[in-house]
Amino acid sequence: MTGETRVLLVVAGGIAAYKALELIRRLREQSIRVRCILTRSGAEFVTPLSLSALTEDKVYGELFSLTDEAEMGHIQLSRDADLMVVAPATADLIAKMAQGHADDLASTTLLATDKEILIAPAMNVRMWDHPATQANIATLQERGVALVGPNEGDMACGEFGYGRMAEPHEIVAAVLSALGREPRSTAGGGPLAGRSALITSGPTHEAIDPVRYIANRSSGKQGHAIARALSGLGAKTTLVTGPTQLQDPSGMDVIHIESAQQMLAACENALPADIAVCAAAVADWRVASQSNRKIKKTGSDGIDSGVPKLELTPNPDILASLSQRGNDRPGLVVGFAAETEDVIRQATQKRARKACDWIVANDVSPESGTFGGADNTVHVIDAQGVDSWARMDKSDVAQRLAERIADHFNGGLTAPAPAPL
Ligand code: PMT
Repeated sequence: MTGETRVLLVVAGGIAAYKALELIRRLREQSIRVRCILTRSGAEFVTPLSLSALTEDKVYGELFSLTDEAEMGHIQLSRDADLMVVAPATADLIAKMAQGHADDLASTTLLATDKEILIAPAMNVRMWDHPATQANIATLQERGVALVGPNEGDMACGEFGYGRMAEPHEIVAAVLSALGREPRSTAGGGPLAGRSALITSGPTHEAIDPVRYIANRSSGKQGHAIARALSGLGAKTTLVTGPTQLQDPSGMDVIHIESAQQMLAACENALPADIAVCAAAVADWRVASQSNRKIKKTGSDGIDSGVPKLELTPNPDILASLSQRGNDRPGLVVGFAAETEDVIRQATQKRARKACDWIVANDVSPESGTFGGADNTVHVIDAQGVDSWARMDKSDVAQRLAERIADHFNGGLTAPAPAPL
């Protein structure tokens, strides 16, 4: 493996190991050569033959293989790569890495390497949440190991939560970032290579006083997933996010804000951009005069001051403001419409009122579970009409929306993402 970017991929034993096949294919699309180490338990989920066919290389498995040690050796195996990637990274392999174990080829090579390591954890939510795993992750991060995911979602074990391995396109974005390669400058290009995208996500917090604020139930899942999907297609991405519990996606600029006014300023700062997607749930109002001291329930005389009257004032409308800019208006402005009734009609009116190009309508009535949930049912409305999509995971909504955006810029010529293997 000489003269090109090389990744040494460790495939450990977890149900997500099947995604390693798509990961290899996507890495190779980016002109990255991949060589694999398959752990003994990994081989229970994917065969060396499939990995070998996709990498067009030998797959390594045994530490005490006389031929391998004579030909290359575990030290040489890691030295020969530009980056080590572990996907899926199981709880067990993560623990071994944190403890410095070296009892098989994967752990020995990870200990012997002098290269950067990126891990994509995949495990049951309780295993992920366990203090032992969290301590191991913290140890690895302190040592400079990079992390992509895990994502939140339904798991093969039937439970729900964090622990699902990041999607192959997210891992590719993290690999490119770790290698210091801009996704847009990849040899494969990506359908949005050379484009820039600005995404808003999450809620805003509008301070009432130093301890209280007005907020909403947005988790940021939908907006963050869109940022990851656009970045995965090669767009240079800026994510402007309100306060969420989510990890920052890798491979993009992430700007943290609290209020709508700060979000507007951050968006204006991020211009020019080719694409703007406003998925944030921006508070429509803030208190007219924010108190810089905690509002007390009693006066200095100890007498109840009564319920304070909060006067509200409108916040700036970020979507409308981006849509109505002059020379630096993004070429495509996509808004969201969160409705509880008459979804398509209300959203169509909103699109016209705010002057955005597309609006993605979603039902946010309590029974829909859209706010904070893992899935979404959306209708994409543009000047041509309404495109209604089946209910799907928010990351799939994001991927499909990103591909639609790429089609818009490429005149409908964007190849669909590789089908899952
Ligand atoms: O974050 P999740 O838990 O994953 O939930 C996703 C979501 C429901 C928040 C998301 O899919 C969504 O619908 N986002 C838009 C929420 C919203 O504020 O909708 P709206 O109909 O009130 O606003 C319409 C559009 O104007 C939105 O693009 C919004 O970002 C934008 N807006 C609204 C008010 C404002 N002051 N500035 C804005 O830019």
